[in-house]
Amino acid sequence: MAKKDSRKAAFGDFQTPYNLALEVCSRIFHYEPTPACIVEPTCGKGNFLAASLATFRSCSLYGFEINEGYLFEAQKNLVQANHHFCSVFFKQADFFDVDWESFFQSIQGSIVVIGNPPWVTNSELGQLNSSNLPQKSNFQQLTGVDAITGKSNFDISEWISVRLLNALSSRKATFAFLLKTTVARKILEYAWLHDLPIHNTSIFNIDAKSHFDAAVDACLFVCQTGTTGEKTCPVYKDICSNESVRTIGYSNGRLVANVSASKIVAQLRANTTEEDWRSGIKHDCAPVLELVRTNSTLFNQLGGAVEIEEQHLFPLFKSSDVAHQKQQQERLLIVTQKKPNEDTNLLIQSAPKAWAYLMQHSSFFEKRKSSIYQGKSSFSIFGVGEYTFFPWKVAISGLYKSLHFLVIPPINGKPVVFDDTVYFIPCHSEEEAALKARLLNSEIARDFFSAFVFWDAKRPITAQILKQLSLRKVAEELGCLRDFDGITSKTNPEQKQSSFHF
Ligand SMILES: C[S@@+](CC[C@H](N)C(=O)[O-])C[C@H]1O[C@@H](n2cnc3c(N)ncnc32)[C@H](O)[C@@H]1O
Repeated sequence: MAKKDSRKAAFGDFQTPYNLALEVCSRIFHYEPTPACIVEPTCGKGNFLAASLATFRSCSLYGFEINEGYLFEAQKNLVQANHHFCSVFFKQADFFDVDWESFFQSIQGSIVVIGNPPWVTNSELGQLNSSNLPQKSNFQQLTGVDAITGKSNFDISEWISVRLLNALSSRKATFAFLLKTTVARKILEYAWLHDLPIHNTSIFNIDAKSHFDAAVDACLFVCQTGTTGEKTCPVYKDICSNESVRTIGYSNGRLVANVSASKIVAQLRANTTEEDWRSGIKHDCAPVLELVRTNSTLFNQLGGAVEIEEQHLFPLFKSSDVAHQKQQQERLLIVTQKKPNEDTNLLIQSAPKAWAYLMQHSSFFEKRKSSIYQGKSSFSIFGVGEYTFFPWKVAISGLYKSLHFLVIPPINGKPVVFDDTVYFIPCHSEEEAALKARLLNSEIARDFFSAFVFWDAKRPITAQILKQLSLRKVAEELGCLRDFDGITSKTNPEQKQSSFHF
């Protein structure tokens, strides 16, 4: 049973119910009522092909699938279906081995590519020890920066879709796939960034829980290929609806969640980077570096008592603390460097107890997988610099679905540090932090961010979105420009110096 389940997972195997396939085909009929050919690149048991037979007339159907058993079922399925003068072809094939350009070239007339590609990510495949992936070089070529580090989690359905859209770029075709909504957006971003000739894009939300028992936001993504259209994509409540709820757009190389809202707040956009938004510290060594204090004794996550120099200990707020607006537990982080690339061997002299403790646990640091630690000092951390030690901060969690910005004061005279899912502006004074938080929490700032944030993303708030807002323009709108300029002239980034030193 377990073996069967892991095989199912490795092949992202969620067969589409016939009724949903039929709804998709009826929707596609509005885009292309008389296709010459319908292709399903991972056709499974063939419900989409059967639904296509029920919807379209006089066309050729091509079903590709890796699983021989499914192909057999699909064939049986289609024999029973009503044929409307269509011819049907099946091929057992691994998607990654098919020469899709040649295949599409061999077809005369308009094409519909339809289906539901595997719902699985490269890291899930890694855990399952599965090789159901494109070759790494192809992977990187098509997907760019994300894949180059080899560490990001990647949806196979994204790769498959991008591969097909590239192969269809010189053809008039309609592309309609059921996808996670986050994947559909990544495809749009890729296509618009690379000027792929697509147009008439739409996203129709579907209820993945009821159709697939999957707790994920999902949609039918549709676009047409062969010519380039406007970079906008209406989003519909469901497949049957004809009125869009909002329109996704594209600006400055990024997707915009709501085009009309973004136009209203456009005057608040920063022309250059104005605010010094930073993310918290990345260390990948929580068992050793994160401590709690109980009855004035420090303990690490391994349960051991720790004694090190106080100057390397800083109060730590995690994303959940920022989201809940208070530190849940008295947590401290051992900060091993005060600036990037500082040699951690300096601790031998400056903090011998910390050095001895870190050496004792060096195996935890050696196990850190991320390539960012390669070639760096043994105990190096990331996201540390002068800004880390500013006394006051205005912070927000990137993970929570909330647009509340919090003023974080120093604790016991020490600046608070954050984990790497938190974004913050370092501030010199309480006055600066209070004013900036007031501007960020204002209604107009909230409207601004709402136009850009995709709330169903894993990390809805990003530094890239935060940096787009000009706090100076918000201050102007709210009639407090004089206060804002007064504060920032004292603390502009070049003059900013942290008041705290090891
Ligand atoms: C999400 S299911 C969808 C099946 C079918 N398209 C449907 O909508 O009912 C994904 C399908 O992709 C197939 N698949 C997975 N990896 C594949 C590969 N490398 N090449 C071809 N088919 C593959 C699986 O066997 C499975 O049938």
